[in-house]
Amino acid sequence: LTGLERGAALESVTSVRILAGNHEYDAIVDSGLLDRVGPLILEKARPGRCAIVSDTNISELFAVRLRRSLTTSGFQPTLITIPSGEQAKTFAQAGEICDQMIAAGLDRKSSFVVGLGGGVIGDISGFVAAIFQRGIPHVQIPTTLLAMVDSSIGGKTGVNTSAGKNLLGAVHHPLLVIDDVEVLQTLPDREFVQGFAEIIKHAIIADAEMFEQLNNTEARSPRRPPALQQLIKRNIEIKSRIVTRDELDRTGERALLNFGHTVGHAIERAGGYQTFLHGEAISLGMVAAANISVKRAGLPAKHRDAIVSLLRRFKLPTQLPSGFAREGMFQALPFDKKFESGKIRFVLTSKIGSAYLASDITMEDIQEAVEEL
Ligand SMILES: NC(=O)c1ccc[n+]([C@@H]2O[C@H](COP(=O)([O-])OP(=O)(O)OC[C@H]3O[C@@H](n4cnc5c(N)ncnc54)[C@H](O)[C@@H]3O)[C@@H](O)[C@H]2O)c1
Ligand SMILES: [Zn+2]
Repeated sequence: LTGLERGAALESVTSVRILAGNHEYDAIVDSGLLDRVGPLILEKARPGRCAIVSDTNISELFAVRLRRSLTTSGFQPTLITIPSGEQAKTFAQAGEICDQMIAAGLDRKSSFVVGLGGGVIGDISGFVAAIFQRGIPHVQIPTTLLAMVDSSIGGKTGVNTSAGKNLLGAVHHPLLVIDDVEVLQTLPDREFVQGFAEIIKHAIIADAEMFEQLNNTEARSPRRPPALQQLIKRNIEIKSRIVTRDELDRTGERALLNFGHTVGHAIERAGGYQTFLHGEAISLGMVAAANISVKRAGLPAKHRDAIVSLLRRFKLPTQLPSGFAREGMFQALPFDKKFESGKIRFVLTSKIGSAYLASDITMEDIQEAVEEL
């Protein structure tokens, strides 16, 4: 091996190259990266001003280390924090962040935005980066499992309005994604576990081998960094492969990532976004999708049972609580983006490890599956 090849081989252990139209960027996955952010960004950007956008929980835990690393590499960071939680993901909040960026002297030529946080921060900081002076680079530092394996990959950014989630947005691919698996140690259990819903979804739609591995994982030690690092990397590969093949959301392949999401979104909404976390609602949605798949896609019942038992293994919900207002779900369903021109496009699986977009699923199919939940 030449030095260069050895370097490339080493690099491939910890990073994934992501192709997105004309853009190419890396997602780096390793332990202790928070202290190396400055040098990592320096490989891609000149020293300049940057905004660290974070929420108050996360900034308290990690902003000092991040700021130190950036400053040592010659960057001039300004920390901008917003309240934690989905309620802060608004257009008004994005405007306030922009105002603070202008006040801090960020400009079009050499400034960039670093998003330090979960999916909420990834989405709003990416949106701000997309619109600030018509667009400046965005560096993603995801701090939740969900953000690492899902929301930081694919370039979708945005904010909510009172009419619904993610109604305003832009596609703005990051310059770099930096996944420090150590930051997951402080993530509350429930937040950690919901990330596994998207991981299990990836396994169902695209990776039967990972499905088996998850079945054999020591469920009590999933936070072990080396195993976790490999798992995160593999999930970034799955999501980015799908997104790359269907950059513009046209071939239907990207829609496969919505497995479990039609019913899942309806459950989230019916619970007023309070009862279930996203991943928990998706877990329930996947049970419904698996049941519809048994009836309409020939999924063997034992595959459906394996899906349910894997979700349970990770302590994800597979049954709705008895008092849950199921009626609320059906009021919400027709507004789902997947109901195009009266037809219901719904992701089914006929075999673990693959999925397809069906267009002949009826409201009755869905209602029946929800009743079984
Ligand atoms: N852009 C996309 O493609 C995409 C895909 C999926 C989801 N999303 C979006 O992601 C958002 C959900 O993201 P999320 O689940 O990461 O929620 P989140 O960003 O709200 O984070 C969850 C909670 O965990 C806290 N937290 C985060 N990291 C922590 C850490 N390391 N230690 C301790 N606490 C920590 C946060 O302060 C917050 O309270 C939603 O807004 C959703 O729309 C976007
Ligand atoms: Zn999701």
